[in-house]
Amino acid sequence: MPYVIAQPCVDVKDKACVDECPVDCIYEGSRSLYINPNECVDCGACEPVCPTEAIFYEDDLPDEWAWYKDAAVNFFAEVGDLGGASANGPIGKDPEQVAALPPQNQ
Ligand code: F3S
Ligand code: F3S
Repeated sequence: MPYVIAQPCVDVKDKACVDECPVDCIYEGSRSLYINPNECVDCGACEPVCPTEAIFYEDDLPDEWAWYKDAAVNFFAEVGDLGGASANGPIGKDPEQVAALPPQNQ
């Protein structure tokens, strides 16, 4: 599994990353965006454009945000591999752990 969006995206959702992804695999949830680990081609194009530095290669996730990797895996196991974020639109929900976070004022 390749790149992961972590906590600095929550309640921010800048979406600069979406325009950079060549395979359109960054999906919009309710409070954050999520990279589908089954569709990401590990190109790294999204990582430097995020103004909140929310995107990490999986091995570089800070320890406190390591759980975002499993959260993304479980999230897409539930919603499926939709084959393109723009055609599907917002998913409208989040992984349980993200939904339970207090408001993020960053
Ligand atoms: Fe979120 Fe950063 Fe993308 S804030 S939507 S990961 S550009
Ligand atoms: Fe997409 Fe490449 Fe990021 S495939 S999610 S822009 S690492």
